[in-house]
Amino acid sequence: MAGRATSDKAPTHGEAVAKKLYVKTFGCQMNVYDSARMADVLAPLGYGTTTTLEDADLVVLNTCHIREKAAEKVYSELGRLRALKQARERSGGEMLLAVAGCVAQAEGEEVATRAPYVDIVVGPQAYHRLPGMVARARRERRAAVDTSMPADSRFDHLPEELAGPQPGRGVSSFLTIQEGCDRFCTFCVVPYTRGAEDSRPAAAVEAEARRLVAAGAREIVLLGQNVNAYHGAADDGGSELDLAGLIGRLAAIEGLERLRYTTSHPRDMTPALIEAHGTEPKLMPFLHLPVQSGSDRILAAMNRSHNADRYLRLVAALRTAQPEIALSSDFIVGFPGETEADFEETMALVRKVEFAQAFSFKYSPRPGTPAAERDDRVPDEVAAERLTRLQRLLEEQKRRFNASMVGRTLPVLFERFGRHPGQVAGRTPYMQWLHVEGDETLIGTVAEATVTDASPNGLAGALAGGKGASTGGREHDAGLVAAGGVPA
Ligand code: 5AD
Ligand code: SF4
Repeated sequence: MAGRATSDKAPTHGEAVAKKLYVKTFGCQMNVYDSARMADVLAPLGYGTTTTLEDADLVVLNTCHIREKAAEKVYSELGRLRALKQARERSGGEMLLAVAGCVAQAEGEEVATRAPYVDIVVGPQAYHRLPGMVARARRERRAAVDTSMPADSRFDHLPEELAGPQPGRGVSSFLTIQEGCDRFCTFCVVPYTRGAEDSRPAAAVEAEARRLVAAGAREIVLLGQNVNAYHGAADDGGSELDLAGLIGRLAAIEGLERLRYTTSHPRDMTPALIEAHGTEPKLMPFLHLPVQSGSDRILAAMNRSHNADRYLRLVAALRTAQPEIALSSDFIVGFPGETEADFEETMALVRKVEFAQAFSFKYSPRPGTPAAERDDRVPDEVAAERLTRLQRLLEEQKRRFNASMVGRTLPVLFERFGRHPGQVAGRTPYMQWLHVEGDETLIGTVAEATVTDASPNGLAGALAGGKGASTGGREHDAGLVAAGGVPA
């Protein structure tokens, strides 16, 4: 391709030349974390991140394959990027295009066939090999493709040093502790794209947590596709630590104020983890616990290995341990074979639980998954109508939950400026965004705020110390990845 350099070696630290990396992240929080990790491994090659696409020498699309719509977005984005790349090459320059993430993993060479101008296709288990792939792509005329799943732990290849401030590495930082999934829910691509379940050793997690806190993190969100299946090596040889144990260990880090974890499978909620919600003050009273359906028949067909009653008993146990706990969930409607009666059972479960927030999706058949083979598909218009009804109910519950905060004084971890001048935004313990009038001195601190107003999307409040009330609260999630993003 025009303008490609011929060097076959990735430059080392010493010979690094300033180049610009633009990463666009789709999908879940783990992709946000991985995007930062890719920036880390590319930094020694001289790539600094940019938020201006037109300036980029290397564009990485970190993709999501969970539903068809998410995967298709990648190809329309690539179409747009192609024009930019061609314009750059016409002027003698270079713009490398890389497809990373789960579309890369699932479709591999197919990406390069469908979009032949793509230079790199790299799966989530091969990010540590990106520097070599960049060098190869610049040298050769065809795409460098790596979707191999390493036999050793993927966590062995994480860079020790962080490349500096990255999206998702601010006051609240993501930290992947577990990746992959062995649960094989029949609708889900994750066991195929992210591979077998693998937990990171506790000492490595703790070391990264300490680095993040030293870099300014006050909250750490522990990530995993099935995070509560965590069983990392404790460093005393042989024994393992579960998630409750890991939380206890991380909670001892001075300067760390809050811990969260996502996403959990109901089957893996252990009594110790439930209890930790009542005993560990740094563990926030919020839990994303996907149920997917309220019908036992559908849950069995999904291979969820829990039924509705077990889920409700879990909710009761969590509320006994921590009466304040706010719950979130994921739902799929229109799973093959779902009848109106099955769907009504989902609605009944939602009414029993009262969720603080939730994500709901129309079933999307994913190639290679068992459910996609079924011939009893629910017609699209039926699924769409059910989704509307479910979302109306969930929206009502969210509105009620937010409204119940008005008048309460809550500790808020302030993370960033609001959209309006003079406003800062932070999270309540229950994950809601709350806006107050204030300045940058608040960012990175936990301050008490009294809630003055609630909308379905967030809260407005005034600092309990006395400063003025904010007017906004609707712009809360611009640019953020939804809380329910990592499947389980
Ligand atoms: N169709 C629709 N929704 C899906 N999810 C996962 N796979 C599919 C699919 N094939 C949803 C689940 C999961 C969330 C992240 O995405 O609800 O918890
Ligand atoms: Fe694993 Fe969650 Fe996917 Fe089920 S939905 S296979 S638990 S990642």
